Order: sequence, then structure tokens, then C-alpha cells
Amino acid sequence: MSDSRPIGVFDSGVGGLTVLQELRRQLPGESLVYLADLERFPYGPRPLAEVRERAFLVIEHLAEHDIKLVVIACNTATAAALNAARERFDIPIVGVIAPGAQAAAAATRNGRVAVISTQGTLDSGEYVHAIKEANPGIAVLGLAAPALVDIVEAGDAGTPRADEALRPLVDDIIEWGADTLVLGCTHYPLLRPSLRRAVARRRLRVIDSAETTASRVRRVIAANRLQNTAAGPAPAPRVLVTGPPARFVDTAARLFRSDLESPVAVRLQPPLAVAR
Ligand code: DGL
Repeated sequence: MSDSRPIGVFDSGVGGLTVLQELRRQLPGESLVYLADLERFPYGPRPLAEVRERAFLVIEHLAEHDIKLVVIACNTATAAALNAARERFDIPIVGVIAPGAQAAAAATRNGRVAVISTQGTLDSGEYVHAIKEANPGIAVLGLAAPALVDIVEAGDAGTPRADEALRPLVDDIIEWGADTLVLGCTHYPLLRPSLRRAVARRRLRVIDSAETTASRVRRVIAANRLQNTAAGPAPAPRVLVTGPPARFVDTAARLFRSDLESPVAVRLQPPLAVAR
């Protein structure tokens, strides 16, 4: 039986669009709804408990769109909320940390993996757990790089500002001896051109979880018989935002050209307290 319900995807801003783009490529027949929680951007510096509560609200909102699966296209929200959300919601939920961690463990040749992420993701320890779950012999260097998120969200990816922020970071990572770098924040793949310049001629495998997460979603959908088997490609993804979408629209337009609907503003409502 065919299931035409959409897949819900969310992040604090534009970062999750890297995952959305890959979902679109790998699952062209599936409808997608993307929510950018711009009102609470950035998630990275907030306490994990606050990000978890917010993620619950976002998932509750997406559930109103009759989604069949949720992709937490944000490492910070995955670190803060994935396990708790799976206990709370009766819907399949996929995060971005395990797919990237497994890909990094498979890619490293010298057993030294660096992960750059937000402060929240670093503090959660989730990448260390996930990489060592795949192979406990791997050494992991975690570094927080919150400035990179602001650079991307401000539309400055690929500019000298991005190059300057990345150069010292990449130098430290290579000096530590990593042969593999995980982009542990979904905003970071948008920095690839600057990253290539910072790595220059040195060797560093770069893993971003967009591709690995999309293949995970593909497998989960198949295993649970949730595919939309109707003929033809799905309509353009629907986009919801919780705050002013100015910058978001620019970056989204660059990534998706015209293949994305104009964002619709939504308000996330905490559930009403039940009067006794
Ligand atoms: N894109 C998000 C992540 O993967 C977070 C950026 C932020 O809101 O700080 O962690």
C-alpha cells in the first residue's frame, strides 16, 4: 500500500536544508515539510533541556501535518531530544548523529576522528558515544565551533570571514593527527568551499551526515512499508518558519533555486494546561 503522507524535517535555521536537499535527491517521490525554528535560533548555546522542550513542541506541530516520519536535521536537537522524543512520540524519528558517526568510524584509516559541532552537541558527548559504539578503539577530538553557525546563517558561507574562521580550526585538527573530520552541525556543509581552501593540499576526509541520514531514512521507510509508491515526483517541499525569514529565504533560494515553496509563518503553541 502506498503512503503519501509527508516526512517532517526540522532544524533551528537553514542548516537542515542540507539534509532536506539530500532527502529530495534520494527519495524524489516523498513529500517533505521543513520547519526552521528561527524564533529560537541558535540552539547550540542553549541548555540541552531547553532544546529538548523546544524539539518536542516542533514535533507536536509537525504531527499536525499528518507526517509519517520525523527527521531531526539538527545535531544539537538530536543530542538533546532524540531518545526522549522516541519515548514520547508514536512515530519513527531519525536523528543525524548516529549516521555521521558510523560513516566516520568506517572512513578513518588511522583511528583519529575530529568532530566540530555546537557547544550543546559537544557537551552532550553523543558523538563520542556514537563513534566509540561503532569502534571503541577510535580516538575522538571534539571541538565547538559556534561562530561557524552564525557565519552560515548570516549568508557569509564562502566569504573571507568563513575562510578566516576555518583556517585555525583545521590547522589544529590536522596537527592533532585526525584523518577524518565530522561536520557535526548541519549548518557546516554549506561551508564546504571554505573548508576545501582551509584543508588545502593536506589529507582530511570530511563526513557530513546529510547523505548518510537520507540513506537511513530510505531504509527506515522501506522496512516499515511507508513508501509513497504513487507515480511521479513529489511536489516541492513545504516550508514553515517560526520567525522572520529574510536570510533564510536567500540561502534557501541558493540551495534549492525555485524548487521550494515560500515559507509560511507558524506559531508553536505549548499544549494548553488542563483545568481541574
Ligand atoms: N544546525 C544545528 C546543528 O546541527 C544547530 C545550529 C544552531 O542552532 O546552533 O546543531
